[in-house]
Amino acid sequence: MNVGIVGATGLVGEKVIQILEERNFPVKNLLLFSSEKSAGTKMVFRKEDVEVAPLTKDVFKNLDIAFFALEESLAKHWIPIAQKECIVIDKSSAFRLAQDVPLVVPEVNGEKIKEHKNLIANPNCTTIPLVVVLSPLQKEFGLKRVIVSSYQSVSGAGRNALNELIYETEVLAISEEIIKDAESVFPARIAGNVIPQIGKFDKQGYASEEKKVIEETRKILELPNLPISATCVRVPVRIGHCESVNIELEKEANIDKVIKTLKSADGVKLADSDKYPMPIDAEGNDYVLVGRIRKDLAFENGIVLWLVTDNLRKGAATNAVQIAERLIKEDHELHK
Ligand SMILES: NC(=O)c1ccc[n+]([C@@H]2O[C@H](COP(=O)([O-])OP(=O)(O)OC[C@H]3O[C@@H](n4cnc5c(N)ncnc54)[C@H](OP(=O)(O)O)[C@@H]3O)[C@@H](O)[C@H]2O)c1
Repeated sequence: MNVGIVGATGLVGEKVIQILEERNFPVKNLLLFSSEKSAGTKMVFRKEDVEVAPLTKDVFKNLDIAFFALEESLAKHWIPIAQKECIVIDKSSAFRLAQDVPLVVPEVNGEKIKEHKNLIANPNCTTIPLVVVLSPLQKEFGLKRVIVSSYQSVSGAGRNALNELIYETEVLAISEEIIKDAESVFPARIAGNVIPQIGKFDKQGYASEEKKVIEETRKILELPNLPISATCVRVPVRIGHCESVNIELEKEANIDKVIKTLKSADGVKLADSDKYPMPIDAEGNDYVLVGRIRKDLAFENGIVLWLVTDNLRKGAATNAVQIAERLIKEDHELHK
């Protein structure tokens, strides 16, 4: 299979290369693309150097699948061009809510992949772990209401954001003042700080990341009217998004039954009862790690839980590669 990665030099693109190799994805030729800035860079795949090329409109005719890891406005420009020639698996938010684009987490709604028109979207890195946990609970108990607060690592905002944390941490160690400028990714210092804003605010006071989590969750679970609210917060952690989730269930919430349901859920790993998962446990892991499952004291049939995921792996690259694996499987079934 001829596979392309668009945005290969970014945090997600780089992770896609690693995961294709780890999972032994059937790659015949791997083609890597970036902006002019990084073109010529060499990246390693299966112990061989692959040179990154600048993205141009004629590259797609040589591909079967293109993994896109560009920011939204670039994805909006390039995907309609790419989609005429090959299947696109996109990590950006550009087309996630479009009606004719499947928005897929394979453990949750993998069957939607076969509806694709050469474009399949990956959800946001906070939405993915959330629906992996909500979906089995939805099936077993029904969902009445969800309230989520996220604690998101800086790598979720890309390579420049990660560099900003590293730089600020070093500067702070010698107590110099940190000066933010127009190039800064974050609106305030991130080292030694917590920023309750991810994306732009709307008139109601919700940030764009919060709206993504709300709208994408409703689309994936096919619950367009699910009462769900989100507060998304950036924390000075390199990798690993955490979420505190309050869930009101339709049916009675017996904690033992909830634990049993989550224990057998695809893609979920429960922490031992005396432990809880943290970003340092999630890094390099493809599971949604869940802990602190308990009864909510504020409302009936309510539970509270804590989850953590590697945002670059299951939150991004692993989910994209799993979609591609499922595509191949569906294609084989079709041609049997
Ligand atoms: N980071 C996460 O945890 C995460 C999770 C889920 C979804 N996402 C989404 O995935 C996408 C990529 O995120 P990221 O974190 O990997 O960002 P990133 O680290 O900033 O990487 C961006 C990539 O885009 C390339 N690029 C920039 N301008 C370009 C242009 N004009 N033409 C071609 N390539 C260009 C960059 O190439 P150069 O090296 O040449 O600049 C780089 O390879 C975003 O839409 C993001 O929202 C990210």
